[in-house]
Amino acid sequence: MTNNLPDEDGLSRRTYLKLTGGVGSAALIAGCSGNSGGGDGTTEATESTEDSSGDSETTEQSGGDDSESEYNALEIQHWWTGGDGGAAIQALLEGFKEAHPEIEVTENPVAGGAGQNLHAVIKKRILNNNPPSTWQAWPGANLQPYTEASKLEDISESVWSQNDMQSAYLEGPKNAASPAGTLVSVPLNIHRLNNLFYNVSVLEDAGVDPSSIGSPSDLVNALSKVDEAGYVGMAQQTKSAWSTGQLWAQVLLGEYGADVYADVTGGNVEANADAVRDSLDLVKQYSQYYPNDAGSISWQDANSKVIEGDAAFFHQGDWAAGMYRGQDGFEYESDWGHVPFPGTDGIYALNMDSFPMPANNPSPEATKKFLQYVGSVDAQERFNPKKGSIPPRTDVPKDAFGPFLQNQMDDFANSEAQPLSIQHGLAVSPDALTAFGDAMSSFISGYDVDAAYEDVKAAFE
Ligand code: GAL
Repeated sequence: MTNNLPDEDGLSRRTYLKLTGGVGSAALIAGCSGNSGGGDGTTEATESTEDSSGDSETTEQSGGDDSESEYNALEIQHWWTGGDGGAAIQALLEGFKEAHPEIEVTENPVAGGAGQNLHAVIKKRILNNNPPSTWQAWPGANLQPYTEASKLEDISESVWSQNDMQSAYLEGPKNAASPAGTLVSVPLNIHRLNNLFYNVSVLEDAGVDPSSIGSPSDLVNALSKVDEAGYVGMAQQTKSAWSTGQLWAQVLLGEYGADVYADVTGGNVEANADAVRDSLDLVKQYSQYYPNDAGSISWQDANSKVIEGDAAFFHQGDWAAGMYRGQDGFEYESDWGHVPFPGTDGIYALNMDSFPMPANNPSPEATKKFLQYVGSVDAQERFNPKKGSIPPRTDVPKDAFGPFLQNQMDDFANSEAQPLSIQHGLAVSPDALTAFGDAMSSFISGYDVDAAYEDVKAAFE
């Protein structure tokens, strides 16, 4: 899969315009249909679906159609491949197969961290009225264009009335699953974003105590010490911009706190100009301590440098720990450790993945069964330990989770603030996120803090 989608941003703006303004307009939809990939490396996934689902433009979800495909075929799209949750989604699908052997599952994964390639595929398919049965989607603001265009179904009764879901989920995840007031999606996991992972022996060798790093600016000194000891300070990928957007958000949070973070994401960038500039400048300072090949690696490649003992620190969502779990001989506390990102103790910066129910669903009955399963204890107990996330249900037994995730569960339960992710679409609209992604792409190409400040301001205001 390519990480470069030159037209992705332009396409997404056009797509959303049509989604929000052109519902029911056959002409507008036809204007963008007829594509089967668009040269973005996703052709295969899109074409195979079109083959199997036929002319879905006229397919309406109607409980009355009991055709075989509606009941028995399920197409799922996600970006969890390899070290990025591959084992976790397989464990979930095995559990689903045991519960529903009659349903045939077709996976059409589209690799690329943070959905960098899948988002465009889904937008095109929804626009063409040819959605998959369901897909990996961030809930919250990310789903608003689809609810505004009536492209998602209310599943309060058909799904959320099952498996004690209503009482087992807390309000936060339920709200995120109801971007327009009714439940349209099912959260599967909760990831924490304000993490700093480290290699224990590298830090020992460099004489750095991670628990003594009190703020994002203190981290610069620690990186410099590690560098002097001959290691990469911070394993970071800059091949695509999302990891930098995510890092900047943690720096802002750690240096200036949850209120400033919320104010900035709420659009008040100018009122917080110093905070935004300073946090961009700190990221610029960190970049001196990135690996030499940062611009050509994925986040999994970057994380491997921590596993192999070449790098000291790694900032990522806790899916990074899902990767450690799959490594023999790389154990929590003896080989790798975790502290909340400096300055963010007591904060649980939230990201979630969910599975929505699209309108024009090619297989509504099978999808309802799948979504009910996603919302069950069994699914969340299989998926989350392997993914490195915690379950959104509050009644999933802790035993399967190992000490690191048990600590995260405790931190979540005791956290005083749970700021929503910018980079993973919970806090800001897809248009703002696209503009923010552009800002971060320019930023990593030259680390011009003033220009990045103007771009971030334009994105959020
Ligand atoms: C996030 C997603 C995670 C993980 C990560 C890296 O957006 O919520 O589940 O897959 O991207 O790709």
